[in-house]
Amino acid sequence: MQSGSRSHKTFNLPKVAIIGGGVIGLSVGWRLAQAGCRVDVFERHRTGQGASWAAAGMLAAGAEAMPGEAANFELGRRSQALWSEFATQLERAAGQSIEYRTEGTVVTSLKKADQDKVRQQFEFLETRGARVSWLTGEEVRGREPVLSRAVCGGYFSSDDGQVNNRKLVMALRQAVGEAGGIVHEGQRVLGVEVTNGSATGVIADSGLAPAEIVVVACGLGSKELKIKDLMEIPMIPVKGQMMALSMGEAYLSHVVRTGDVYLVPRRSGRLVVGATSERGRDDDLATEEGLAALKNGVAALAPDLASLPLEETWAGVRPGTRDGLPILGSCTIPDLILATGHYRNGILWTPITAALVTELIVSGRSSDLLKSFSLNRFSGEWTKLKTALNQPSLTA
Ligand code: FAD
Ligand code: GLY
Repeated sequence: MQSGSRSHKTFNLPKVAIIGGGVIGLSVGWRLAQAGCRVDVFERHRTGQGASWAAAGMLAAGAEAMPGEAANFELGRRSQALWSEFATQLERAAGQSIEYRTEGTVVTSLKKADQDKVRQQFEFLETRGARVSWLTGEEVRGREPVLSRAVCGGYFSSDDGQVNNRKLVMALRQAVGEAGGIVHEGQRVLGVEVTNGSATGVIADSGLAPAEIVVVACGLGSKELKIKDLMEIPMIPVKGQMMALSMGEAYLSHVVRTGDVYLVPRRSGRLVVGATSERGRDDDLATEEGLAALKNGVAALAPDLASLPLEETWAGVRPGTRDGLPILGSCTIPDLILATGHYRNGILWTPITAALVTELIVSGRSSDLLKSFSLNRFSGEWTKLKTALNQPSLTA
């Protein structure tokens, strides 16, 4: 995991300020505090109430990456490989369960045209070495008998799993404290203090908090931060509406997905159903229209589940980027590190993000894997936009 390097204090571990208390900020904070860094996490509200709370908790490298999305799949595969140990260590550190499971995902479809897309996704994943196996419609129903007789072929992705993301954020919050990190809730960060060109702290509601390294891990909020001489961190909100049904008995053994809907069975008997994908929307209101789409998705995929009692509805906003990949690693400001834009896969990508950022800060090594995720990949379009905005208007 190594190539380039950052020059700094390897022996005297730095004081780190982390902006954002979702799964990303908390997991980076936990790993850094474990490594011996002095860690302060600044969260504008309460920790873990943003996208991390709204998520379904799927760890689905073999279902989320579409044909051609090699970097997305690679990051997911690498993170999946870390998940088991990460979960064990976290549960031990926090003294609480996060319900990590690895039963795999069944990806299927209800129409022939959609089946062709699923087949392409399967072939893409198989070529990249994912553990996937093709299933006929009958075999899909053999794995999940509650599914409609209309299901076509699909595939089983055996390395996928799930975690209870709400328990995950609570455990991470606890683990940061146990490792000696300090979490400041109700502390909005307005910007990053830059002195002689390097990051030297955060400007929070309560004033300047000096730090030797600053990590931006505040998801959608990253775009609003004032950081002198850094291009805007481009973020795209993508709203997702969700609901939970009360299953009682376990009707499903795996996560099941079509292009329209996913079903995530929790051991408690709760069935999490998601999700709409509303690009450009940044409110967290569940609407009648959104919930009707989810209910219709359940009725088509598993008619017997459509009449289950409704337990909860909610919505959250994914911190998206134009190419669907996160923004990770160093940037043009020394001592400023970015860990944001985790879009649809921030729960899946939590262990790898924490590992890569910790490696960068503690040993100064920048993994080759980070190259695909640099903020710099957006600098061309940002320069073009700025130039266009500075041109005198021809029509004025
Ligand atoms: P967040 O959880 O949003 O945390 C960012 C934190 O920063 C927030 O608490 C916010 O209050 C704080 N903040 C913002 N600005 C500031 C500031 N200026 N100062 C201080 N604090 C600030 N991913 C998966 O892997 N699997 C899934 O099944 C899955 N399902 C999803 C379903 C839905 C409906 C949604 C919305 C997302 C889903 N995701 C899923 C994506 C995943 O939830 C996100 O990628 C992940 O939670 C991002 O984590 P984060 O810590 O970057 O962001
Ligand atoms: N990864 C599932 C979602 O974003 O809805």
